[in-house]
Amino acid sequence: MLTTATPIIDQLISDSLKETDEASLRAKYSEQDEFVIVDEFLPLEVLSRWELELARLKPHVHRNYLPGHKKGGSVAYQTMNALAPSITRVYHSAPLLGFLRRVVGAEVNECPSSDPHRCALYAYTEEGDHMGWHYDTSYYKDRRWTVLVGFKDESSSHLLCLLHTRNSDRDVVNLELQIKPGTLVIFNGDKVYHAVSPLKKGESRYIVSMQYVTTGKMNPFMRFISNMKDAVAYFGLRGVFGKGRLR
Ligand SMILES: [Fe+2]
Repeated sequence: MLTTATPIIDQLISDSLKETDEASLRAKYSEQDEFVIVDEFLPLEVLSRWELELARLKPHVHRNYLPGHKKGGSVAYQTMNALAPSITRVYHSAPLLGFLRRVVGAEVNECPSSDPHRCALYAYTEEGDHMGWHYDTSYYKDRRWTVLVGFKDESSSHLLCLLHTRNSDRDVVNLELQIKPGTLVIFNGDKVYHAVSPLKKGESRYIVSMQYVTTGKMNPFMRFISNMKDAVAYFGLRGVFGKGRLR
């Protein structure tokens, strides 16, 4: 779906790309075992559009608490696309997709439209909200990448990452990062072990997670497992299986 925001957002991303040192990012991505940070990528003009749309998303945040794993809220793609088109337009942006392909050196594509994670909002708004240590395991037949986009952070909570965990030639690298608004974190979900540290009272943190794949193919059993995980851990049964989705 093309909206009037499409050309503007694509143009703003293209402008931002002119300032980006892709060769250095490619080298870093490879050296860091498929992980790289792109500071201050998203222009303020895009972020201010996102900020206006956040107010519309807040009533639709689905809260989950899985002891020992995660506590927090999320909004699935279909609702994002209906209420926050400036956010999903960034996900669908052709200049962004081209940039990702060049940085990771692979045929990066959007996730299938049925995947509620393809562009989702994660909301950390209550004391103790966090994400436990995990890989963004691909249920698809090939690779899957996560692109986190810093949105709004009024917290002391950090993204914690362990790099090279599956690389026997290298020592593990431990990172603790504050993801500032507009910053991208690009990584191969099967390689980077990561978590989000707990939120303190009175704080809030919103981040957008975008998922890309080499191929949208998934066998039916893995599709079932993936759907059940999304329903329990993220978006609820209605968010995943459709009856409560906004059209
Ligand atoms: Fe993750």
